This record gives sequence, C-alpha cells and structure tokens, in this order.
Amino acid sequence: MVNDNTRNTENEENDMTDRTQTEPLDDAAGNGMLLELDHVSKIYGDLHAVDDLSLTVPRGQWLAIVGSSGSGKTTLMNIIGCMDTPTRGTVSIDGRRLANLGESQMADVRKNVIGLVFQKFYLVPYLTAVENVMVAQYYHSVVDEAEAMEALRKVGLGERAHHLPSQLSGGEQQRVCIARALINCPEIILADEPTGNLDEANEKIVLGLLRDLHEQGTTIIVVTHDALVASCAQREIMLNHGVLAGEKWNDDEARRRYEEMGGRPAFSGAHAPETAVGFDDPTKAAKTGGEAVDGAGVSAVGGAAVSAAADLRDEMETVKERRNHG
Ligand SMILES: Nc1ncnc2c1ncn2[C@@H]1O[C@H](COP(=O)(O)OP(=O)(O)O)[C@@H](O)[C@H]1O
Ligand SMILES: [Mg+2]
Repeated sequence: MVNDNTRNTENEENDMTDRTQTEPLDDAAGNGMLLELDHVSKIYGDLHAVDDLSLTVPRGQWLAIVGSSGSGKTTLMNIIGCMDTPTRGTVSIDGRRLANLGESQMADVRKNVIGLVFQKFYLVPYLTAVENVMVAQYYHSVVDEAEAMEALRKVGLGERAHHLPSQLSGGEQQRVCIARALINCPEIILADEPTGNLDEANEKIVLGLLRDLHEQGTTIIVVTHDALVASCAQREIMLNHGVLAGEKWNDDEARRRYEEMGGRPAFSGAHAPETAVGFDDPTKAAKTGGEAVDGAGVSAVGGAAVSAAADLRDEMETVKERRNHG
C-alpha cells in the first residue's frame, strides 16, 4: 500500500515533458492530469467499497464509470467530488492533493472546479427553476438572476424558469440540475446516473448537453449502468466490488492523445499493468497484488468480475441490436 507521503514522481516527469503543441480540446492545458487517484480505497468494516484503485483523467476527457449496482461507483464519485474522503490513498485535482487542502481551499474546489449532477435531482421544492440555479450561485458569490437565466436557456429551459420543480417533468428537472452544475463554469462535471430517471427522449437531450460541454473542453465523468450512455464517453472503466474490472476506449484519437501525454490504464492493486484490461477479458482483471487481498481474495474478485463483465457484454449486444434495428 502506498502511503500518503509517497511522491508521485511519474506525474512530475509528465509535467517536465509537457507537450503543448497538441490538440486544443482534450489536453488544452498540456501539463498532465486534471484528476489523479493513487491507490484509493474506501473501506467500511471489511467491505472495500473502492479497493486500491489508481486512475488518471486528463483535462477534457469524457470518462464513463460503469459496473453493476454496489460496485462502488457512487462511492468513487463522492470521493472525486470532495463529498467523501478515501480511507487510504490520495486524490489530486489540478495538481492539488485534496488531503493537503484546508477547509476554505476545499470549499473553493467544490464550488469552482466541480459541478455535480445526480440521479435524484435534489432541487429545492419551494424554489422555482431559476431560483434553484441561483442557489448554487449564492454559495459562490453574488446571486445573479441574469446568469442563472442564461444557464437555463443553455439547457433549453428559458421558458420554464419560473416553474416549481413539481411543475417540471423529470427530464426538465434534470436539466435544471445541469444548469445549476454549470453556473460556476466548473472544469469537471461529475454526473451520477444522470439519465437514471429519464425516458429515452430526455436521455438524448441530457446526453446532448454533456456532448456540448465536452466539446467546449469540460472534463466529464459519468457514472452509469446504461451501456448506451457509457458508449458516448471516450473511455470507460468498469468497477466490480470496488476493483477495476476492465477498461475500454470508444475514441482512438483520444486514446492516442492520452497515451502520448503519459496516461496509463487504470488499475487496482500494487502494480500498473502494461496494457489496459479490456471488458472482454475480465479474467485478467483481478487485483495485481498488494497487501489488502490474499490469494483466495484475488480469485474471488476475479470470478465476480467475470460475471459482471459477461452481464455488461450482453447488455452491450442488446444496445447494438437496438441501434442497428432502430
Ligand atoms: N456509508 C456506507 N457505509 C457502509 N457501506 C457503504 C456505505 N456507502 C456505500 N456502502 C457500500 O459500498 C458498496 C458500494 O456502494 P456504492 O458506491 O453506492 O455502489 P454503486 O454506486 O456502484 O451502486 C455497497 O456494497 C454499499 O452497500
Ligand atoms: Mg450508485
């Protein structure tokens, strides 16, 4: 297990070999990773909700985190979103190690760097759409109704600004949440099952909004168990019992850029693999060692990963068929 004092020399090397001449969007800053998780675990008693996970995400990447219910997706999201802290390991955003930040710096990251979108919308029921968007702004600085209105217009809800949440459809409520997440122009949008409560038409609208944000350079991390939603991302990682069970790229160009800047596959356990473990080969996805899991544990985790990946593959097939015939 890597302790908190271990220096991340790899990242520092990446900073030295900065490639600033590359494409404008995906690594606009050109100076390494926006998000770095280094051997992160969240442990409840003997349950490892997230288990020794290492992951880097460059600025501008669209990443999907997939996995069946209980696989640790929300726990991971809460850790990345500064709503929870890991039991072990370190998280850095924009080169700042979260554990080293004071309360006010942490609050600054929450307000200005991260925008959150949830499956349950968490709108204040007695405030109108525009007021709900202004609530997010209020934490930040001055309540500016014009800006809140502009954010609502961006998500196509200019006409609904003065409706209460109860007067809005699920899809419209989710768009209010996205407007609320956008108000402080966050670098990262974290969305936990953003389409989980939506019908197909609204799912499309929300995915379209995420696509627009991505095109504008926002880093997007979407948790989903919907293979179709996941397939919109450039890169997918699959969790199973908190362990990385596979990684898959949907965008070869994004992969090339990531690898060129020194980006490595995500992994669980002590050692980074040479190449990513695909979704199709989950038997290789067990932890790569380390003190937390003994031999029996590894095979148990591997077995669970096999069945989860098989489920997901089936789901993918269904999605492909749906697409081909629809
Ligand atoms: N506060 C908590 N206390 C104890 N166990 C928890 C807590 N939060 C999550 N867990 C457990 O951690 C595992 C992962 O949960 P979660 O991250 O919500 O999974 P997912 O979002 O993939 O469905 C589950 O077994 C869940 O019961
Ligand atoms: Mg969840």
